[in-house]
Amino acid sequence: MAAIAIQLTRTVFPLPGRDIQLDVVDDVESLITDLSDADLVPCWAEIWPAARSLARYVWEYLHLEGQSVMELGSGLGLPGAVCGVKGADVTFSDYNQDAVDLSVHNAKINGVEATGHLGDWRNFDLKRRFDWIIGSDVFYDPKLNPYVLEIYRHNLQAGGQLLLSHQRRQHTYDFVAAVKGDLELEEIRLDLVERDEESVYGQFVVSIHHLRPANI
Ligand SMILES: C[S@@+](CC[C@H](N)C(=O)[O-])C[C@H]1O[C@@H](n2cnc3c(N)ncnc32)[C@H](O)[C@@H]1O
Repeated sequence: MAAIAIQLTRTVFPLPGRDIQLDVVDDVESLITDLSDADLVPCWAEIWPAARSLARYVWEYLHLEGQSVMELGSGLGLPGAVCGVKGADVTFSDYNQDAVDLSVHNAKINGVEATGHLGDWRNFDLKRRFDWIIGSDVFYDPKLNPYVLEIYRHNLQAGGQLLLSHQRRQHTYDFVAAVKGDLELEEIRLDLVERDEESVYGQFVVSIHHLRPANI
């Protein structure tokens, strides 16, 4: 892993019975170079409400001992780190090298040795299949969703499961419905309220979609 040159602050994300250590970016605005190019907006450097809710869902409901998990668009890697703490073999993927490195780093400070994969969904060349593919707040641009569906087709193990979370975007609900049909999966959906004192809204509702084969 390359040395991380960005200024970081250690924070704690508390879960019932376990604190997750997280190094976060001190000054996200200093990473902005060109807001007119969506690929250059440093959205990877924030922990979004959807990531916090997904981390809570993983902690509360999943048994992952010995399972392989890929986190797509991992950003700072909170949900994947929690998967690792629960015993999963985790691969973090993003198209931003700092995001990949920081995700692996955040897993490591929680005692988890994870793998990083630098990859753009539009040209995703990872050959490996996973028991789980997870992603928080990665479906904000509907133009990218068909590429993610291709990744699900090529990188999800037969019998594998998907976890997605988002801040209630209609096109994401439509995408989830298409994925369910395409991969013949069943859905558990949960809406969690994520408090955010730094936001003027004070809280967000996050939808979590857990898609899995019918026979599990
Ligand atoms: C809104 S951020 C969410 C970050 C993190 N999952 C969270 O919820 O805190 C979207 C993430 O997807 C990544 N991403 C966006 N477009 C991508 C693409 N075409 N290929 C790979 N990663 C992409 C970004 O770099 C960023 O980490």
